[in-house]
Amino acid sequence: MKYTIQFRIWHWLNAIVILGLLATFFLRKTFLSWRTNSEILMTKLSEVGIEITAEQAKMLAKAVRAGMWEWHIIFGYALAFLVLYRIYLFFADTSEKVNFDSLDMHHKAVKISYYLFYAILLFMTVSGLGIHFYQELGMSKDFAGSIKDIHENVAYVVAVFVPLHIAGTFVADATDEKGLVSTMIHGKKID
Ligand code: HEM
Ligand code: HEM
Repeated sequence: MKYTIQFRIWHWLNAIVILGLLATFFLRKTFLSWRTNSEILMTKLSEVGIEITAEQAKMLAKAVRAGMWEWHIIFGYALAFLVLYRIYLFFADTSEKVNFDSLDMHHKAVKISYYLFYAILLFMTVSGLGIHFYQELGMSKDFAGSIKDIHENVAYVVAVFVPLHIAGTFVADATDEKGLVSTMIHGKKID
């Protein structure tokens, strides 16, 4: 078995959760951005004769965004469990382990990129839980704010990895690794 059932289920659940986290990130920066929406609220309300301050508009726009952002935390907890489960699989999984030295340059680079990605996921989980529980952890608001800035910048790396990874597996599957994507579904080795 190239990939055990546990590994494949982990891969696809992880894909869903990360796409979910990226979706909340995207929405927060676009359609549900409080900056954009507070301006819309102020303009539209003033058109119907209601004047509100920028501060009040900000509060309203953030309230509109709140329900969506709860999903960031829900997916965030899910990611924390998936990262722990991936660590467990690292030691316990019986998926065929490839010998790193036997790989060509390209596959070595791919494998290294996965491990860098795992390090990034671990960082996103620890920093995300850190900012979520900053008060309980006794952090100052400023310190939590600086962790948030790093969390946010590293999020862009995740946003770049995902389309590259999907495009990469598509290209490999269409060229010299036919059936690669389906191995992540049925688990068997390709030819
Ligand atoms: C958010 C989405 C995704 C994430 C975060 C993700 C993450 C990963 C990671 C970390 C690995 C390495 C597993 C390991 O060897 O330790 C992997 C492998 C793989 N993924 Fe994804 N994946 C995503 C979506 C997809 C999609 C949509 C496809 C199919 C089109 C796909 C196909 C594959 C395949 C075929 C492999 C094995 C590639 C190989 O042997 O080098 N992934 N994925
Ligand atoms: C792939 C994983 C993740 C990505 C791409 C991601 C992305 C982001 C981004 C871009 C922000 C900044 C939003 C902004 O201020 O405009 C953010 C904030 C945040 N993230 Fe994540 N995140 C991830 C994982 C997590 C995890 C695992 C948690 C844990 C619960 C988490 C909790 C938070 C919290 C609490 C904030 C601060 C929200 C606020 O200031 O209102 N994140 N995340």
